[in-house]
Amino acid sequence: MARSIIIDCDPGTDDAIALFLALGNPALEIRLVTVAGGNVGLGHTMRNARALVGLAGKSIPVIAGADRPLLGSFEDAAYVHGENGLGGIQLPDGPPATPGLAADAIRAALRQAGPNGLTLVGLGPATNLALALATEPALAANVAEIVLMTGAWAEGNITPAAEFNAWSDPEALAIVMACARPITLATLDLTSQALCTPARLAALAQGQGTCRATAAAILATVPPTKRLAQPGSPQHDSCAIAWLLAPETFTHREVHVTVDCTNGPGRGQTIIDRWDRLGRPANARLLDTLNPDRFFALLDESFNRLP
Ligand code: BDR
Ligand code: CA
Repeated sequence: MARSIIIDCDPGTDDAIALFLALGNPALEIRLVTVAGGNVGLGHTMRNARALVGLAGKSIPVIAGADRPLLGSFEDAAYVHGENGLGGIQLPDGPPATPGLAADAIRAALRQAGPNGLTLVGLGPATNLALALATEPALAANVAEIVLMTGAWAEGNITPAAEFNAWSDPEALAIVMACARPITLATLDLTSQALCTPARLAALAQGQGTCRATAAAILATVPPTKRLAQPGSPQHDSCAIAWLLAPETFTHREVHVTVDCTNGPGRGQTIIDRWDRLGRPANARLLDTLNPDRFFALLDESFNRLP
């Protein structure tokens, strides 16, 4: 039976690939796609989410949520994702936005799903998920699992300490982390292992389909990251989806995680106790390593199922 999920995202070049990975997989039943401002402003992320769902030929509600973090001001990452969030690639307009607000829609879906009924996947700032869980905490019982692309155990990508999604809304991440449901984290350290090198991009571009061609065009726009020794773009968000599809692709460990919500240079840092130095109870499963060949094979298989 397919696993029922909600994808909360901010597309975003790597979110686009993650959405294709999920949309092309019968093992996942995507109940909702909820959207926040993140990589670019909410107007762009909504348009992109609708366009990507439309391109995949799916009829899934796409609902707008937060255009800013719970506290502080909004800052985008257009320098990575381009002004429109998809590296300037223009897609045909998708189905219209479903009316309503992301947090309300997440709560309604959880209520309908019943105990352990829905898995929440967070690919952007955690604002929408936090608003949903904080305003009706009892609904956490209906969450089977939460999988987040967020954080880093080593250095960050937006500040020396913090990864972009965690830094964008640390208070929201702390709220989600406190909901006492099983949480799996795909951090930067893991997603760096899902590096779409020029050779992998060339291989991915081989084959039929509009979604595949679109993904290849989007990936070709991503500027190389200075953080990594090799050229290519880390497929951050797809790691969270791949965990649901093929957990044997990963190694993992149970850890205690604290989110830095101070206003100093550590803001947004996820302090991850990989070696249990603090002796505190684990509150997350940390994905440690992945098998890149298997990961990129999963992507390829999804594109084979998409238009
Ligand atoms: C994360 O931040 C965003 O820029 C990406 O879409 C990904 O979700 C990586 O730090
Ligand atoms: Ca994202």
